[in-house]
Amino acid sequence: MRPDRRRSRKPQAGAPLTLTVETVGAGGDGVATRDGVRHFVPHALPGETVVAVPRSRSAEGVRCTLERVENASPQRVTPFCPVFGRCGGCAFQHWRRDALTAWKRERVVAALRQRGFADPPVAEVRSCPETTRRRATLALKDGRLGFSEAASHAVVPVDACPVLRAELSALIAPLRRLLAPLAREAAVALTWTDSGADVLVRAAAEPGGWEERQALADFAAAHDLARLSWDSGSGAVPLATARPPTMRIGEVAVAFPDAAFLQPSAEGEAALRGAVLEELGGAARVADLFCGLGTFALPIARAAERVVAADADGAAIAALTAAVAANGLGKRVAVAARDLFRDPLPAAELDGLDAVVFDPPRAGAAAQAREIAASAVPLAVAVSCNPATFARDARILADGGFTLAAAIPVDQFPLSPHLEVVAAFRR
Ligand SMILES: C[S@@+](CC[C@H](N)C(=O)[O-])C[C@H]1O[C@@H](n2cnc3c(N)ncnc32)[C@H](O)[C@@H]1O
Repeated sequence: MRPDRRRSRKPQAGAPLTLTVETVGAGGDGVATRDGVRHFVPHALPGETVVAVPRSRSAEGVRCTLERVENASPQRVTPFCPVFGRCGGCAFQHWRRDALTAWKRERVVAALRQRGFADPPVAEVRSCPETTRRRATLALKDGRLGFSEAASHAVVPVDACPVLRAELSALIAPLRRLLAPLAREAAVALTWTDSGADVLVRAAAEPGGWEERQALADFAAAHDLARLSWDSGSGAVPLATARPPTMRIGEVAVAFPDAAFLQPSAEGEAALRGAVLEELGGAARVADLFCGLGTFALPIARAAERVVAADADGAAIAALTAAVAANGLGKRVAVAARDLFRDPLPAAELDGLDAVVFDPPRAGAAAQAREIAASAVPLAVAVSCNPATFARDARILADGGFTLAAAIPVDQFPLSPHLEVVAAFRR
């Protein structure tokens, strides 16, 4: 038996290695093979010779940190943020955008090929702006507020973040001054809603006495926050609400519950919505599964006769139900709280529909895809943020008699390795 070199060879921690980067892996790191073992080097580009320090080893290979680039790729560009490389928030500011976009598109093609789609119809990537993120979670630790370092719990302190919408970025330094004396550790979630900034602090303990609560309320007023809430483990409690946060989806205003799912930018959401509506055409009876606040269900309801919307998040479903009622849409939009992993909408209930849209979390929607495959519904539109589970679910649909008609990559996470895909499957 040949020895398993991956298992037997110890990483030489601390001894720098000179590596030639072959490709960029799914996680965004440069990948170099040395003695048959894959080495992952953040911020290294294909074709580059780099000096990297091995840090840890797993079944996948050796994780390294980049010490220096000896021979830079012509595709390398200067990052625009001073903490890029240390801050774990962005994986890519150093790669020319056209090359990065081509790499992302190729990931979708490769994932589909792996699942037996020989020549998948993957469209050109629809790109979104880099600096309009409307949600982010920062970490507060020992007086530092910032983003976690890549693969570490250390906080890289920042006073601003050029990737966030300017209104949210401007809150970072004042929030540090406010919160550092109030909590040793906390997670601070910022969301830009149509009512203004919504700030949620998650910390182990409640804010102390009256004075601390007053300081928080004063801060909310001084910075014109829509809402400031605190969650010490038993749910978010609003400490100041100037305007209830809402999101406008088409013509409908939906209340924004604490920590509800929101696409990362308004532009990304619009691109996804555009692609979904294009593929749906004039479908009259539609299901929107994993619907969240109704990002697709509400615009679909403008033209469709009947929309069935379901999601497991009770707060999002309550907000959507209230918005449907307040806008007189109750006869056309049926909203249900449902765990679609354990209890997918069954084929028999899908049979009468013209189309189904499904937009699951990164784990994908294998159980729901099996029900769609077993149903008579003629069109399924998948929205996915994970090419691997997307391709797995695509295989389930293809085995059930669907043809993959189009896959449209939408790059709404431009500085990360992530990519969204909208795909149409037709019988
Ligand atoms: C990627 S988000 C999409 C939400 C919405 N379509 C949008 O664009 O805003 C995924 C959604 O899946 C929901 N979800 C997660 N696990 C679920 C489950 N087991 N059953 C049903 N919904 C689930 C989440 O609450 C979230 O709203």
